[in-house]
Amino acid sequence: MKYVFANWKMYLNLEQSRELAEQLIDISCDNSQMTGVVFPNTLFFQDVSERLKNTAWRAGAQSVSWTPQGAYTGAVSAHLFAESGAEYALVGHSERRYIFGETNDDVRKKLESCINEKLIPVLCVGETKEDRDAHKVEYRIKKQLLKACEGLDLDTSRIMIAYEPVWAIGTGDACDPEEAMRMISLIKAEMMAYTDAVVPVLYGGSVDQNNVVLYLSSTHIDGVLVGSASARIDSLRALMGAVSTYCSK
Ligand code: PGA
Repeated sequence: MKYVFANWKMYLNLEQSRELAEQLIDISCDNSQMTGVVFPNTLFFQDVSERLKNTAWRAGAQSVSWTPQGAYTGAVSAHLFAESGAEYALVGHSERRYIFGETNDDVRKKLESCINEKLIPVLCVGETKEDRDAHKVEYRIKKQLLKACEGLDLDTSRIMIAYEPVWAIGTGDACDPEEAMRMISLIKAEMMAYTDAVVPVLYGGSVDQNNVVLYLSSTHIDGVLVGSASARIDSLRALMGAVSTYCSK
């Protein structure tokens, strides 16, 4: 099974989100070979998830609040997303960590709330350019995994990981597939300390129609998390075309 996750971030307004969701339905996504999940902006989540109901596509939350229900102004909890049809949730995306100041502690609480609400968390981990220059890549990844997963019961709940080097996101400077594969195999080995279950690990960072198959065909890489190339119909169609050709081989 390969996974193609489309993170629309805050690229689209309501009309554009509706239009892209509508067009997605015609794009082939063979459920026996691949799982396609769209992460629309929170404000349009309900709209897009309704539109994708009974199609091959699933919907996920870009970010959830760890707070439950009640007096939490501005928060949208994992519980509310689950109620609105979300099956997945991104947790710890680097834009949340580095732009909005989410800490490892926040990430951990969000992970727990997703698990409690039966959302499949997609835990995003990745090093910055500074980490890489300081030879701290493995240290950073291991620390992010430890802070998120230590002591959690992951044997009975599903979790996925996305390896997203921060320097590769939105830059066009995608990580070399060999290096992505090395990091993902390290993540899988590391996750064996936390669970006996199989944990799918995706690669994310400047994935497009030209490089997607390089990642999908690499051992250990179970799929891709795509940002900007998933938010325009021409590039999304081309990307999914490449994925379908690869999956049907
Ligand atoms: P990008 O974003 O594909 O635009 O680099 C990936 C992500 O942030 O998940």
